[in-house]
Amino acid sequence: MSRPLVSRRPATLAGTARVPGDKSISHRALMFGALAVGESRIEGLLEGDDVLRTAAAMHALGAEVERLDDGAWRLWGRGVGGLREPADVLDLGNSGTGARLMMGLVATHPFTTVFTGDASLRSRPMKRVSEPLSRMGARFVGREGGRLPMAVVGAQSPMPLVYELPVASAQVKSAILLAGLNTPGETTVIEREPTRDHTELMLRGFGAQVEVEAAEGGGRAVTVAGFPELTGRRVVVPADPSSAAFPAVAALLVPGSEVRLSGVGMNPLRTGLYQTLREMGADIHFDAMRDECGEPVADLLVRASALRGVDVPAARAPSMIDEYPILAVAAAFAMGTTRMFGLSELRVKESDRFAAVMNGLLACGVKAEAEGDTLVVHGTGAPPPGGATIAVNLDHRIAMSFLVMGMAAAEPVAVDDAEAIDTSFPGFVDLMNGLGGAISDIVAD
Ligand code: S3P
Repeated sequence: MSRPLVSRRPATLAGTARVPGDKSISHRALMFGALAVGESRIEGLLEGDDVLRTAAAMHALGAEVERLDDGAWRLWGRGVGGLREPADVLDLGNSGTGARLMMGLVATHPFTTVFTGDASLRSRPMKRVSEPLSRMGARFVGREGGRLPMAVVGAQSPMPLVYELPVASAQVKSAILLAGLNTPGETTVIEREPTRDHTELMLRGFGAQVEVEAAEGGGRAVTVAGFPELTGRRVVVPADPSSAAFPAVAALLVPGSEVRLSGVGMNPLRTGLYQTLREMGADIHFDAMRDECGEPVADLLVRASALRGVDVPAARAPSMIDEYPILAVAAAFAMGTTRMFGLSELRVKESDRFAAVMNGLLACGVKAEAEGDTLVVHGTGAPPPGGATIAVNLDHRIAMSFLVMGMAAAEPVAVDDAEAIDTSFPGFVDLMNGLGGAISDIVAD
């Protein structure tokens, strides 16, 4: 059943909130805990559908996985190479991260795993992982175009690989590094543009040998040594900067607002949005910068601000790849033109986000155009008309972005189905309304 929602202009937004745990880090904590010897404890795990499916999959692959309390989980791992063949198909729901990283994990285990997902995940390209993992000895049988459902026949005798990423993707990088754990010798991924490095940081924390060097010809080479002894540990998951983006931009756009967001992950490979918003004139402060389990964390203080259009260089895309929909909404309220370069990857996210953002903006009366892989948004400095219903197409970030649009546009904005929000941000509506927002269900008459 679909869940249509509508958002309207509140008076102001005010107060303190903590958004749920980081999605990327939550997936990895479960996977690495399942590979480590002994007990791991996770605090602040994102309990959204994507991550819960990874938890179920790690259980199906042989790890003990137990929920102790809200966000508190305990794992008892199998040791590197110790995963066992799952008795059934692994359904990763909406999660590209879950599917791609796990394909890497099982690619170097000598058994067969079948992956599937929802209509969105089944439409997403998997060749980007199956191609390099095939070179390590795994075999893949999938649908036309390398799509799920797909069976992975793990390598009996895995071979190490040196691989240069053809697209800037932390998922592909991570899939190969994870396959490299159960492979003799050293496996190296070369990335010309740095992508989020949670895999490298957390694997090291679990005891793996991970070297990062400058690559010949630019970028960096990440090398993992095979057969490390991973040991269970405690992981504290920071609040997700990609989720914090929604209340942060809402606070910037709703006049008179002042919102504090606590414990937000500030890994520099994730903070491109905040850098861009500050260049647009946003009043955002990072307080109490600290380190939590190897990841930088801060409290964000966001005050309503008049924004101006800027150019966002393509090189920044990997550090804010999930934030373009909400940046485009912010750009619609800015004075002047915002050009976002190098957005080809947006076409293969949970939906074709490039098209979804363009169509949504146009429906809300915003002037926007596509120039190849560049998205151009023309703001007037005044709230756009709004007054549209946006098709979500199983994409959580499209739903949340346009609900934020409705919080500051002249007329309310509706989304046809907000169900997908639970994949990454359970409690989104309550959190926004707790700050003063006015998001409500549309009840059919
Ligand atoms: C992620 C990497 C990014 C991002 C996704 C999470 C990860 O995907 O869009 O939400 O956790 O590694 P790509 O690797 O496809 O860029």
